Amino acid sequence: MHNAGVSETLPKQAGEATGAPRTRRLAYSDLPAVISIERRSFPTPWSLAMFVLELSKPSGICLAAIDGDDLLGYLVCSRYDQVWHLMNVAVIPERRRMGIASRLISQLLEEAGRDLPFTLEVRVSNRDAIAMYEGLGFRSAGVRPRYYQDNGEDALIMWLD
Ligand SMILES: CC(C)(COP(=O)(O)OP(=O)(O)OC[C@H]1O[C@@H](n2cnc3c(N)ncnc32)[C@H](O)[C@@H]1OP(=O)(O)O)[C@@H](O)C(=O)NCCC(=O)NCCS
Repeated sequence: MHNAGVSETLPKQAGEATGAPRTRRLAYSDLPAVISIERRSFPTPWSLAMFVLELSKPSGICLAAIDGDDLLGYLVCSRYDQVWHLMNVAVIPERRRMGIASRLISQLLEEAGRDLPFTLEVRVSNRDAIAMYEGLGFRSAGVRPRYYQDNGEDALIMWLD
């Protein structure tokens, strides 16, 4: 039955998209959607096994940005001794530049607290990501030469103390 117009008056069902993303912990059940975004986001995407390993670490913080049942983005952060290492962050291409990654990182800072410093590596050519990290307070602290094996690109090391 065609019911266009009627649905506008019905209340939202659980899990239905609302257009306002929310943040929660990443779950194993998110991983098929994560892999799909990952493959669209990186020249050398992480494997499923790498995500499973990170999710299994009790000291890590892995977050998801979701809209209804849709995964829009994710973040993976590990704690090594006295440092938080932001390992991976990506947003579905159709929903970029809407503040989703910034919101995920802000949530990470809130959940991790500010007692320990945060660090990350980013390709020197990834100006968009570098601008985002700078906007969140990260500062450049040197380069790891030829860090990325696919094209020999240098990594910019960034810190947030
Ligand atoms: C980098 C990435 C995660 C940013 O996600 P996002 O949700 O679009 O980022 P935000 O909307 O929170 O952007 C925050 C700020 O970053 C900068 N930025 C992000 N995308 C940008 C773009 N395409 N051009 C210029 N600046 C950009 C801007 O300063 C932006 O603030 P503004 O929109 O108020 O100007 C996303 O582009 C992505 O998934 N890229 C592919 C994967 C990747 O490179 N991950 C980072 C690996 S280190």
